Amino acid sequence: MAETKGKVAVLAGDGIGPEVMEATLKVAEATEGSHGFRLEWKRGLVGGAAIDASGKALPEDTVELCRSSTAVLFGSVGGPKWESLPPNEQPERAALLPLRKIFGLYANLRPAVLYPELTGCSPLRPERVAGGFDVLVVRELTGGLYFGQPKETVKKGSGERAVDTMVYETHEIERVTEVAFRAAAGRKKRVTLVDKANVLESSLLWRKTVKGIAARHPGIALDFIYVDNAAMQLVRDPGRFDVLLCENLFGDILSDEAAAVAGSLGMLPSASLGLGNFGLYEPAGGSAPDIAGKGIANPIAQILSLAMMLEMSFGNRPAAESIRGAVAGAIRDGWRTADIAAPGEKCVGTREMAGEIARRVASRGAKG
Ligand code: IPM
Ligand code: MN
Repeated sequence: MAETKGKVAVLAGDGIGPEVMEATLKVAEATEGSHGFRLEWKRGLVGGAAIDASGKALPEDTVELCRSSTAVLFGSVGGPKWESLPPNEQPERAALLPLRKIFGLYANLRPAVLYPELTGCSPLRPERVAGGFDVLVVRELTGGLYFGQPKETVKKGSGERAVDTMVYETHEIERVTEVAFRAAAGRKKRVTLVDKANVLESSLLWRKTVKGIAARHPGIALDFIYVDNAAMQLVRDPGRFDVLLCENLFGDILSDEAAAVAGSLGMLPSASLGLGNFGLYEPAGGSAPDIAGKGIANPIAQILSLAMMLEMSFGNRPAAESIRGAVAGAIRDGWRTADIAAPGEKCVGTREMAGEIARRVASRGAKG
């Protein structure tokens, strides 16, 4: 077995973050037990919780904790309490964007999976999602409109002029494209580049660069789709896609769309990766302040983020597979939190769902 050791920065954050994180750490413990490894889990403050404690959404000691860790297991940040702060100080922007930039997390993997048993959760008609689907959005995360310069608002005449810049360089496209092709190799071996090459100069560079990388991966099929068409195809026939490779803003939008089509945000994990093993792993769903503290949030997105972390930062695929198998098994056997229950179906809370998944991980390990 690969050696799995090192430190994990545990940043639970706000809203449902703390409760799903606690539940997930139980699954982590069961996985350590059944797969024979032990990691060092160290908690830090982030988001609104950190603003309340120290005035900053991303305190320096949290950055230091992340720097000295192999991976970050992230909960979620933000909530109504901090919504009146200036945009630049709000937890989402002031914690997540700097973390991505500081740690060079240029590749964001967002799997949108609809389990066959949960097709009723999708807003799409049953025949469009029969059998479920499994789409992976690979989003460029440190370039494009989010970070491009100039980015400013200046006075102009009697009004103002605001500019954001969509800029990409070859190397930024190459590195995230490599991630997408490697991911596709372990899946259905298809990459679709989402762009707007009929209008945008930067999209032309994406097409050219991605074609160049594709030549190094002869086993993977590559095709191209305009972003507007991709948005449409995702609601017509999500199952036609395997890996969707997107620049930053397109990936932001399409990954939310793919998540919505997959039924519940409470099921979807994500990984943000840079060079080397370091990564940040977080649920796709956000802090869900409306249900925070009630013990009813679905912990699966956080639990599957743990699985991605064990696989991608610690190289322990068997442990990740155990967790994914336990989640699929619990779903198959009818375990439901409120967000994924059909009307009248029996629901369990956050702790019970995680407890069942932990139990399954523990007993799988015992069987070898
Ligand atoms: C996401 C979020 C962030 C983004 C926001 C909160 C800055 O929407 O992770 O997708 O736009 O990247
Ligand atoms: Mn988003």
